[in-house]
Amino acid sequence: MTKNYPKTARIVEVSPRDGLQNIKTQVPTETKLALINQLCDSGIKDIEVSSFVSPKWVPQMADAAEILGQLKARPETNYIVLTPNLKGFDRAMECGAKEVAVFAAASETFSQKNTNCTADEALKRFEPLMAKALDNGIKVRGYTSCVLGCPYEGDVSVDEVVRITKALIDMGCYEVSLGDTIGIGTPLKAQKMIEAVLQQVPAEKLALHFHDTRGQALANILACLEYGVPNIDASVAGLGGCPYAKGASGNVSTEDVVYMLHGMGIQTGIDLDKLVAAGHYITNEISCTNNSRISAIVS
Ligand code: HMG
Ligand code: MG
Repeated sequence: MTKNYPKTARIVEVSPRDGLQNIKTQVPTETKLALINQLCDSGIKDIEVSSFVSPKWVPQMADAAEILGQLKARPETNYIVLTPNLKGFDRAMECGAKEVAVFAAASETFSQKNTNCTADEALKRFEPLMAKALDNGIKVRGYTSCVLGCPYEGDVSVDEVVRITKALIDMGCYEVSLGDTIGIGTPLKAQKMIEAVLQQVPAEKLALHFHDTRGQALANILACLEYGVPNIDASVAGLGGCPYAKGASGNVSTEDVVYMLHGMGIQTGIDLDKLVAAGHYITNEISCTNNSRISAIVS
């Protein structure tokens, strides 16, 4: 097969949200803001900064309004916040959000555990949110979770991954990020999934969001890059995990993804040294392991 690697890749940094939503201790708002600023200074242009979900469900994201309120305005940067429903969207809009992300799952059990509704009910919840976003010029990104397996159901149907992803695109998401929520996939399985999704949605509208629980994330990203998917979610220091996905650990580390892409001649516009410094900053602040391999040798 001719490999159709993209010439440039866009990194969507998810550490302030996916990385910190699962930390047991409360991370101070100032620490989150300092992390976000360092990430932006490294050249990251798309960054998920928090989520307007129920603070009872995810206490670590309870300061979403303060985060959006205190972030430095950077015209070149897209600050993204997660919104599970209209209530979250309204809170985000009040704080001046310009881009939100909605999330649905290809597994019914995960959908119930994570958002207390079925996958179709989640899609229905997004309809009024989408309409309001469109009216107010707010961009909406989508997520399909459990694309390579579910922590509760095991195997997930590829047809369901395609159905949810296409539904999110059809309702107005400019892009859908495909989540291997528990990092269970392997490269050939990832390729089968991406081939099926590409029958319905073009590569430019897809992103890869692979957790690294079993050390497969970089291999899975490479396997899907061959198909020209140019958008990759990643988290500095490999932080991450969903509190409602049993056994999920960190996302793929942004530093390692950037190292791989640059080595392949795929440009990201990111300064690897500054990125590594941001990873060391946050892991020192919250006293946790830095899971980036490249950061162990570039200090
Ligand atoms: P629910 O309990 O069914 O909600 O939760 P409800 O509509 O019945 O409302 C119950 C209470 O919550 C009410 O307050 C609402 O006002 C309030 P009360 O009357 O009891 O005082 N409420 C809210 N408050 C603030 N912001 C809101 C909001 N909505 C309701 N937006 C809900 C349903 C969706 C809200 C809940 O299940 C929830 O917040 N879930 C989010 C869980 C989450 O954040 N998971 C992690 C992110 S997803 C992820 O990590 C995967 C991803 O990374 C991709 C991948 O890896 O695959 C994206
Ligand atoms: Mg995730």
